Amino acid sequence: MTSAHGFGIDIGGTGMKAAIVDLSDGSLVSHRHRIATPQPATPAAMADVVRELVDGHCWSGPLGVAFPSIVHHGVVGLAANIDRSWMGVDADALFTQACGLEVTMVNDADAAGIAEMRFGAGRGRDGVVIMLTFGTGIGSGLFFDGVLVPNSELGHLELDGHDAETRASAVVREREGIGWDQWAPRVERYLRHVEMLFSPDLLIVGGGASKAAHDWLRLISIETEIVPAVMANNAGIVGAALVGAGLGLHAAS
Ligand code: BGC
Repeated sequence: MTSAHGFGIDIGGTGMKAAIVDLSDGSLVSHRHRIATPQPATPAAMADVVRELVDGHCWSGPLGVAFPSIVHHGVVGLAANIDRSWMGVDADALFTQACGLEVTMVNDADAAGIAEMRFGAGRGRDGVVIMLTFGTGIGSGLFFDGVLVPNSELGHLELDGHDAETRASAVVREREGIGWDQWAPRVERYLRHVEMLFSPDLLIVGGGASKAAHDWLRLISIETEIVPAVMANNAGIVGAALVGAGLGLHAAS
């Protein structure tokens, strides 16, 4: 394995995905291995899967892991959509010990944003860029001049007395069985709030709903330029690999 390769794992509520990544262009240089997230998704059970993913790729260098919660210096906080037993766990230390390799944790939306800023929709873009992922929850990655401000957690902005992700995430749309036309106004209301608070120069929308972006982005009317993510399924893996290799903070070196 050359030093231009990294290894990333993207952990979600239903699947844990991993691949070896070419760090010069963000392409995957191995197959993408997916293992169902163990239920219950306890730290010990997930550590076993992380080790299995690493072993399955015969990876022996540093790696990054994208995780769907606040990750402050490796420690998990705000377990909104993950097993509550994760709260306060030093995931960095747990996974490092589980695979005997240096592991660096990163929030999942931060990881996706890092990948999009370096290789995707945010490439070469300065100013305030916000990546928003619409999936089980709403994740956010906040960048200024290509530098990440970690753990922004804009999915938990309070709107009309509700946590925004409980009204406007992609999963809420599926659960309520509403069409894009009914979901889009909620997203627009949310995006207008984000716009008012941050005056962004660019919004990038990713996550599960980005696959259908052409269905709903045309229903959204805001002032800020808004574009779909281009690395959809792989952004978390690629961003995690960049972070694992120490390339996560700046969008371009
Ligand atoms: C979590 C975030 C995460 C987002 C997307 C939210 O509920 O608080 O940390 O990035 O879901 O997974």
